[in-house]
Formats: sequence, structure tokens, C-alpha cells
Amino acid sequence: MRRTRLTGLTVLALAALLAGGAVVSGYGSRALSAVRAASWDLDIERAMDVVGVAPGMVVGEAGAGDGYFSLPMARRVGPEGAVYANDISRRVLSQLESNARREQLDNVHVVEGDVDDPRFPRRDLELVVIVHAFHDFTQPVAWLRNVKKYLGPGATVAIIDRDPSQVGDSHFWPRERIVRYAEEAGFEPTKVVDSISRHLIVVIKPRAERASAR
Ligand SMILES: C[S@@+](CC[C@H](N)C(=O)[O-])C[C@H]1O[C@@H](n2cnc3c(N)ncnc32)[C@H](O)[C@@H]1O
Repeated sequence: MRRTRLTGLTVLALAALLAGGAVVSGYGSRALSAVRAASWDLDIERAMDVVGVAPGMVVGEAGAGDGYFSLPMARRVGPEGAVYANDISRRVLSQLESNARREQLDNVHVVEGDVDDPRFPRRDLELVVIVHAFHDFTQPVAWLRNVKKYLGPGATVAIIDRDPSQVGDSHFWPRERIVRYAEEAGFEPTKVVDSISRHLIVVIKPRAERASAR
């Protein structure tokens, strides 16, 4: 008799689709989100500790999707803080908005951006995170140059993604590539952490401008 082997992910996918009630096409469906979230397997609380998300902060996320990281950040920054969740897809932002509403997170604001400019409505963000998304950016250097104008003094940008050397998937970008783009855009790395759930966390800050030579 031929036996069919069900992998853990297949079982999870079927369960998620059943829980979702229907197969909804598109990235934002709850069922597909559940499958994707399980496969990212990021320890979100520890990642937030590493990048310094704290109560009362005003933070941004770029490539936020349906809120995988923005919603936990919104819970942590609390009602005194705010999360500006950016994406280039209006469709996923609508999903994010309804997810935030369902969880009564009034401190989440969605921001539709361009591929090379997040268009955040504030210039005092204390931190901008990019989770599982930087490798999808088509203009990473231009985007990083443009994000600077939305950062307050001392702010950092944290790129969090699966580490290709730990997950064995060249779809994701190695630290050297991320750091190269950052340096081209006028940033310098302040921290690189690769010990959390097979993810790479690269924290960067704008390089101080050198005083012009007299
Ligand atoms: C793989 S999803 C990750 C979503 C979410 N951060 C997560 O971890 O589940 C990548 C997201 O990046 C968005 N994206 C791609 N290029 C972008 C850009 N230049 N600026 C902002 N978002 C972008 C896509 O629309 C998509 O929602």
C-alpha cells in the first residue's frame, strides 16, 4: 500500500486553511498568514529586546505585511507609543488595519510608501525595523538613503531576516550584502546578532557627517 507522508508544515497548512474557513487568495488571508508566521519561526519577543523596542516609543516598520511584527511592537510600546506600519501594498495594509482593529490596537497607523521611500508621516522615529522584507526591496540603497529623513536623533534601523547561512536558503541576504548596502547609503552597523531563531539582526545608524575640511 502506498503511504503518504505528511510533513509538519503540510499538517499545519491544512489546519490553518481549515481554521481560516476558506481559501482566500492573496498574501493577507488569515489562513495563509498563519502558515507563513509558523514558517518564519522568529522569536519576536527576543528580537524586540535586541533592537530595543520599549514602552512609549514611536517606531516604524517597513514592509510590515499584515502586521506579523507591527502588532507585537504595538502591544509593547503601548498606548503612550505608536507604530507606523509601512508597506508598498495597499492590500496588505488593509489587512493589517483590520488585524489591529480586531486586537483594539489604536496606536497602529498604516503608511503606504514607494519602493524607494517609506513616506513616514513623522521625522522623529526612534527606530525603524524591516522584518523578513529587506531582501524583497528592489532599491535598498535608495530606500535607506531616504529613510534617514524620518529618523530622530540617535535613531537606528534594524534589519531582521532569516539568516541564509543557518537556514540554507540563498533567497535571504547574507550579512555582508546588508552591511554593504547600509554603508553605501551612509549608515554604519552598530550590532549584528545571529543567535535568535536562525535569524540575522543587523542594526545600523546613520554615519556622522564629517566636518568639511577647511
Ligand atoms: C515577505 S513579506 C514580510 C511581511 C512581514 N514583515 C512579515 O514578517 O510577515 C515582505 C513585504 O515587504 C513588502 N515590500 C516589498 N518591497 C517593499 C518596499 N520597497 N517598501 C516597503 N515594503 C516593501 C511587500 O509588499 C511585503 O508585504
